[in-house]
Amino acid sequence: MERKQLIKKYLKFFESKGHKIIPNASLIPKDDPTVLFTTAGMHPLVPYLLGQKHPLGKKLVNIQKCIRTTDIEEVGDATHHTFFEMLGNWSLGDYWKKEAIEMSFEFLTKNLNIPKEKIIITCFKGDKNAKKDIESEKIWKSLGIKKIKFLGKKDNWWGPAGETGPCGPDSEMFVKGFEIWNNVFMQYDKDSKGNYNSLKQKNVDTGMGVERTLAILNNLDDNYLTEVWKPILDEIEHLFGISYNSEKNKRIMRIIADHTKAAVFIAAEGIIPSNKEQGYILRKLIRRAYTHLNKIGHYRNLIVPLIGTIFEIYPDYKHLHSQKDSIYKIIKEEENKFELTLDKGLRIFEKLTKNKKQLSGKNSFLLFQSYGFPLEIIEDLCKENKIRFSAKDFQKEQVQHQKLSQTASAGKFKSGLADHSEKTTKLHTATHLLNEALRSVLNKNINQRGSNITSERLRFDFNFPRKLTEQEIKKVENLVNKKISNALTIKREEMPLKKALASGIQSEFGSKYPNKVSVYNIGNFSREICTGPHVKNTKEIGKFKILKEESSAAGIRRIKAVIE
Ligand code: SER
Repeated sequence: MERKQLIKKYLKFFESKGHKIIPNASLIPKDDPTVLFTTAGMHPLVPYLLGQKHPLGKKLVNIQKCIRTTDIEEVGDATHHTFFEMLGNWSLGDYWKKEAIEMSFEFLTKNLNIPKEKIIITCFKGDKNAKKDIESEKIWKSLGIKKIKFLGKKDNWWGPAGETGPCGPDSEMFVKGFEIWNNVFMQYDKDSKGNYNSLKQKNVDTGMGVERTLAILNNLDDNYLTEVWKPILDEIEHLFGISYNSEKNKRIMRIIADHTKAAVFIAAEGIIPSNKEQGYILRKLIRRAYTHLNKIGHYRNLIVPLIGTIFEIYPDYKHLHSQKDSIYKIIKEEENKFELTLDKGLRIFEKLTKNKKQLSGKNSFLLFQSYGFPLEIIEDLCKENKIRFSAKDFQKEQVQHQKLSQTASAGKFKSGLADHSEKTTKLHTATHLLNEALRSVLNKNINQRGSNITSERLRFDFNFPRKLTEQEIKKVENLVNKKISNALTIKREEMPLKKALASGIQSEFGSKYPNKVSVYNIGNFSREICTGPHVKNTKEIGKFKILKEESSAAGIRRIKAVIE
């Protein structure tokens, strides 16, 4: 079966069961500083899993692109990927275990024609937070499944995606030893103290891995031999004259293919390689892919010729195609930059090891951190030059560094909009007031180009060609505070997206919305499409203060503000 067919079958099946299709969201989570990327289909649904009403109803389905970097070191085997696609269906306080499991069973056995004898199930074995899931076991048994295992939290509990949020026990479906689908019964909300509080509603969150399922359905024991990977491997073979049949090359080629694909998708979101957050991950992916290519003996401008295959694999990702030129440019520039760094790093390596028999932990970490050398490369260089290298000393240095940077970022990630604290809710409403105040004071063409809210501050990006004057900043701040003291009420209404856009209601530039949306009205002052959450009355917000106004990108300004 082809990817296209699998996706179509899944969406059609759940549509026939009353689900509405929601858009494939951006890889960069909106308003959620607790994670860098969308790691699962449920991610954009967090507010709704927590109890907010979704404009399209209680049963949803989609295909979602995801990035997970937590096990980047494991990439290289037959099943791990940084970028992958997930099919998912959700019940937002609607159906529960029986319907969810019955639908999964029907789809696997009737639509994908997997014999039920080949399916192995795992359920949650219970602990102090939740009971043993004998309910799910009973349902699977009633459907004729015989192999059911009970496992603990490490295996049969999912979430939260960040530090806090919805989570719960899950029941996983395995075929030929690979997990292909997961039904999560989300009935808990983990708070920042580590407590599992019962959610207002019982949700179902499922996720089926497209790559693994395609491998199973096509009788392949290596995901990389499916249509979503093979063209990249073929191109590597073709360009560099090496073969995927050799065990040594396999791992290297999988890493190159994986990292190149993930880099293309991250670059398509407008992320530029840098030394922090998503930009750092993009940099790391490009540099790792590059150095692995070097391992098989090639040099200079290597990743760029592989990019084309990714456009061919995913003709349906229109945003990828419309960003083609900028994706090429971003990756090419980083590759060029890395080539220079590599040359510089090689000279430093020579200096550091001249007349020496050993590379110290400090110096190996310097090469890693300041010159972007992946560890494998440092090891290889040492081997080639008969220099002793201690991975342990390197790790010691790395742990020390991590401790320092964790302390530095602890404040920042303490909590975010994902935990829907009172403070983030206030800041969220303040962001709407700021947006409208900018439009009133500066001009009506101003439009949101990104926002990020933590419990400490809000950050708001918008299009404007120049620096704001102090007077303008004061005017904007005063207008927001005036609206706060006017005690305006916030009202939510639902309407078709088309109608909202046609009536000039504010929306974020370039954002994807479902066909039916929530619109938040703040008195008669502001109207915006948004997923919330918001305060009930502006007087709850407190005093608004702009801390900083700066450039964020060409033609884009950034405001940081707090409430006191
Ligand atoms: N969130 C769950 C997972 O990622 C189910 O989609 O496995």
